[in-house]
Amino acid sequence: MTDPKKVPFFTLNDGSKIPCLGMGTFGSDRCSAEEVAAAVAGGLRCGYRLFDCAACYGNEAQIGAEFRKAFDEGIVKREDLFIMSKVWNDMHRNVAASCKKSIEDLQCDYLDMLFIHWPFPNYHAPFCDVDSRNPDSKPFSVEEFVDTYRQIEELVDQGLVKHIGISNMTIPKLDAVLGKLRIKPAACESEMHPCFQEQELLEYLNKQDILSIGYMPLGSPRRPERDIEPDDYVDMQMPELKEIAAAHGVHPAIICLKWALGRGVLPIPFSMHNYEANLEATVTEKLTDEEMAVIATLERGNRLVKGHVFLWPGAKDWHDLWDEDGVITSCTDC
Ligand SMILES: NC(=O)c1ccc[n+]([C@@H]2O[C@H](COP(=O)([O-])OP(=O)(O)OC[C@H]3O[C@@H](n4cnc5c(N)ncnc54)[C@H](OP(=O)(O)O)[C@@H]3O)[C@@H](O)[C@H]2O)c1
Repeated sequence: MTDPKKVPFFTLNDGSKIPCLGMGTFGSDRCSAEEVAAAVAGGLRCGYRLFDCAACYGNEAQIGAEFRKAFDEGIVKREDLFIMSKVWNDMHRNVAASCKKSIEDLQCDYLDMLFIHWPFPNYHAPFCDVDSRNPDSKPFSVEEFVDTYRQIEELVDQGLVKHIGISNMTIPKLDAVLGKLRIKPAACESEMHPCFQEQELLEYLNKQDILSIGYMPLGSPRRPERDIEPDDYVDMQMPELKEIAAAHGVHPAIICLKWALGRGVLPIPFSMHNYEANLEATVTEKLTDEEMAVIATLERGNRLVKGHVFLWPGAKDWHDLWDEDGVITSCTDC
């Protein structure tokens, strides 16, 4: 058990506090909803107060039952938790319904943060494979994104959502939309791990006072088949990382988490078996500047969630999703 009061926090751009590490809840098409909910139940009892949920993970009802049990047993109060959820791509035109369903399933009265999970409305079914394509998929549109965002702003006005999050964004997309939003996003969730550091995006978000939440902070060794390629690096097997871990007497996972915290990123690792150690990493010794510098050299540009399944008809390949030339690829109204 880690005393939640001792877990450090980040301060969001409206002055609210958020625990510096949260529990991910995506079962990666491998763990059942019940298994993920069991990890959440254990997490609540060992000090986790931040949970990263999403409608498309298909397990919010099971997780909500565990929140309810913990409230009823007096283990935690609703106001002590920071509960995040995400609008899936097929609900961009119906955000209120998505939000209300998540609140009902999670049994949590309001969401501390609601994210736009992906910046385009391109739907794919759970468990789909890498070649799956939705013929209705479209490239990014500023107007559509801003319309989706405005629907969340209304939910903030109604008190159903406390903060707004964005996810899987790029700097060109942020440049295109930030000036058009009434309520500034509090956080941006992006893939970030030692072999995919996104330093430029992190600095951009820091300048905007938007917190970076790092997903797949350990390099997601059990990610879905569609996100595995033979030449992907294995973050936790990098010799430099293993050496630092050995010096601290901990698993390389713990070093990945301390590295994220050291660079001002909030990590949201998922774990069924090691969640207790992950939270404890927030209250034990930090990495030294030298260790941080060694891990900085592990950048390999190895994006794991390439996003093939979100491509629209006519797109070249997955690079089109990430605006690597500094302009939004095939934007319909930029
Ligand atoms: N916004 C988005 O589009 C997006 C996309 C992907 C993910 N996410 C979020 O990010 C969260 C984390 O991503 P992820 O679950 O794919 O990857 P991850 O957290 O990088 O890796 C999870 C894996 O690492 C193992 N692990 C965790 N702690 C460990 C430890 N201390 N020692 C050894 N192994 C350890 C887990 O195994 P055990 O279970 O055996 O511990 C699990 O297989 C997701 O759950 C989700 O909430 C968001």
